[in-house]
Amino acid sequence: MIFARRPEPDSAGPATEQISFSEVSVGVLDDTPTGDVYRPILTDVNVTLDEPTVAIIGANGSGKSTLLQLFNGLVTANSGRVLIDGLDPAEEAKQVRSRVGFVFTDPAAQLVMPTPLEDIELSLRKRVPKAERRAAALAVLEELGIADLAERSVYELSGGQRQLVALAAVLAVDPQILVLDEPTTLLDLRNKEKLRKLLSDLVARRGVRVIFSTHDLDFAGLADRALVVDSGRIVHDSNPAEASRMYRELIMSDSS
Ligand SMILES: Nc1ncnc2c1ncn2[C@@H]1O[C@H](COP(=O)(O)OP(=O)(O)O)[C@@H](O)[C@H]1O
Ligand SMILES: [Mg+2]
Repeated sequence: MIFARRPEPDSAGPATEQISFSEVSVGVLDDTPTGDVYRPILTDVNVTLDEPTVAIIGANGSGKSTLLQLFNGLVTANSGRVLIDGLDPAEEAKQVRSRVGFVFTDPAAQLVMPTPLEDIELSLRKRVPKAERRAAALAVLEELGIADLAERSVYELSGGQRQLVALAAVLAVDPQILVLDEPTTLLDLRNKEKLRKLLSDLVARRGVRVIFSTHDLDFAGLADRALVVDSGRIVHDSNPAEASRMYRELIMSDSS
């Protein structure tokens, strides 16, 4: 018997240019006196994202970071399936990571070199020949308006400055999808506005898709779509204004 070959996914077609989660659950085993007990972190996440900008809103511990880390295989699902433009991050982590850039909340998690310039050069090592790397790294820092920080020690930078450098290091590799975990936590108002403009420009000029988690309901307003996560489930899915209203209601009902 000859099996029919499964059709190859059409990588150029719009149908695969999507992020989809079907029946995705993530949990951990807690070691208790009576044995291992499964503790759910995310439960039955079903969502397809094809908007340019998506915000994930939710309280501390609701599961936002876990959800975002599924995008590039930093976390893998216990059950269900994640597909990023037709690729499963659990099976094709390398290909997925070459298209998904991930910016951690804590920039210390990703800055490894003594200066911003060296860090960006490190990001560029597989894409740009050595002789051109320094100029290319400077151009990235200039694009973010932080060229003046190029040769400073990363230890001397403020949290917000480090967060911008971490973002520059991720943007240097030209991701098609940018995932940011609470990117405004360390930013002052001016840098927050700068980030808002930068993300809008990336979407408009480079066609980058942006997914970010946030507590900042004002910042969430830049998204085309907003999901509210509560206790590991998506409990609301609409636009930022509606989602912010739902999130406030949720918080109020919890604290009453
Ligand atoms: N690796 C892990 N091991 C055990 N528990 C975890 C792990 N990662 C996350 N959790 C737990 O899962 C819940 C959701 O965490 P997280 O996704 O970081 O939420 P958020 O980003 O919304 O604050 C929290 O209760 C957290 O303690
Ligand atoms: Mg988090």
